[in-house]
Amino acid sequence: MSALDTRPRTATTLRFPEGFRWGTATAAYQIEGAATEDGRTPSIWDTFSRTPGKVCNGDTGDIAADHYHRVSEDIALMRRLGVTDYRFSIAWPRVQPTGRGKAARKGLDFYRRLTDELRDAGIRPVATLYHWDMPQELENAGGWPHRETAYHFAEYVRLVAEALGDRVGTWTTLNEPWCTAFLGYGSGVHAPGRTSAVDSLRAAHHLNLAHGLAVGALRAALPTPAEVSVTLNLHAVRAHTDAPGDHDAARRIDAVGNRIFLDPLFHGRLPEDLIHDTAAITDWSFVKDGDLKTVAAPLDTLGLNYYSPTTVAAGTSESPSPWAGAEQHVRFVPAPGPRTAMDWPVDADGLHELLIRLRDDLPGLPLVVTENGAAYNDYADPSGAVKDPERTAYLHAHLAAVHRAIKDGADVRGYFLWSLLDNFEWAYGYSKRFGIVHVDFATQRRTFKSSAHWYADVIARGGIPA
Ligand code: NOJ
Repeated sequence: MSALDTRPRTATTLRFPEGFRWGTATAAYQIEGAATEDGRTPSIWDTFSRTPGKVCNGDTGDIAADHYHRVSEDIALMRRLGVTDYRFSIAWPRVQPTGRGKAARKGLDFYRRLTDELRDAGIRPVATLYHWDMPQELENAGGWPHRETAYHFAEYVRLVAEALGDRVGTWTTLNEPWCTAFLGYGSGVHAPGRTSAVDSLRAAHHLNLAHGLAVGALRAALPTPAEVSVTLNLHAVRAHTDAPGDHDAARRIDAVGNRIFLDPLFHGRLPEDLIHDTAAITDWSFVKDGDLKTVAAPLDTLGLNYYSPTTVAAGTSESPSPWAGAEQHVRFVPAPGPRTAMDWPVDADGLHELLIRLRDDLPGLPLVVTENGAAYNDYADPSGAVKDPERTAYLHAHLAAVHRAIKDGADVRGYFLWSLLDNFEWAYGYSKRFGIVHVDFATQRRTFKSSAHWYADVIARGGIPA
């Protein structure tokens, strides 16, 4: 600032607690590429992305951000950011190619190298065991609606925990099981692209079961006390008006969007209203004696991914829908105000609402924001700079919401920005950019966007400008 600069000095910082974990997040299929290297077999996303019409522009994760070959370069980016933690996922078809049997040494070696380099850089590895890339062979055998898949998952988790348990301190079983169950098997907009309400509910239960079995496998295999967690994309559901029908619509979405996971995982029960709402679809006899006890294995933290809230009213929505029949009573109401390139409303209050709800519903359980961020149409200007002030504003508002929730008593231990790099945004392919580091996919050149410089400054000062 020059002597003549009359801008107010924003020396004040909303500081986060000592030891707060500042991270970035990615997922294997979205960044790794190297789809056929070192014994990796196709996952459901390799198959889905090759199915015409499923992914924007026919994009696939074959090369993605080529992270498999650029680990050191990408860790150098994280060092520049100053992150304390890095959340990544392990590709099941890379470490256990057929989804059964022995582990593949080369696949595990990749994650050994990644975690060693992270630790050398002073960055804590946070590993997610399932971020949507199931080996295709297991989908051929029935996928998540099939009970056996949960047991295969636990076996894979055991192999990974035995191999990497000495270098990874934080483990997340599943990422956003709602998306796997309801987008993968309900609306079919995600892999494997099936559209069956009953299969989506079966998948949700078997994901819960897989999670519980995996917690057991982790606790048994990890050599030191480790942090074990799950990441949910809870919906900040709001009734459009105070009319009873609108509240009932919100209750239905809360049941099939949130409590279908929260109740089994943290209370060992299924929501009664969900069983009632879905009675025309299933009698839930796929839930076996003892399952809910397994599902409710105690966790050390809960991960929350948040992007935008959902407003609903009485009415109906289009099918095929991910909502397992709830859409017959629910209309989704578009929110006014700014939106991201995903067309998702920007509304940081939803994050505060969810954190406060978890503070009240799950007292004593530490929380971590395991994803938050935004897509915008970023590009490099003629000087090569990538300026993304909307993303910085989005991040600032959401970090302020986290700060406010902590002040209000929520025990939030960390924040992971989605995402480190521009990457394969599932059904949107490379058309949506969530990174704070721009990737030129033709050259794989990485460039800090202005939001990355901003985030580095936030981490350095331990807080956001007030
Ligand atoms: C949540 C998912 O975990 C991640 O894979 C995805 O890219 C982001 N949301 C943005 O849609």
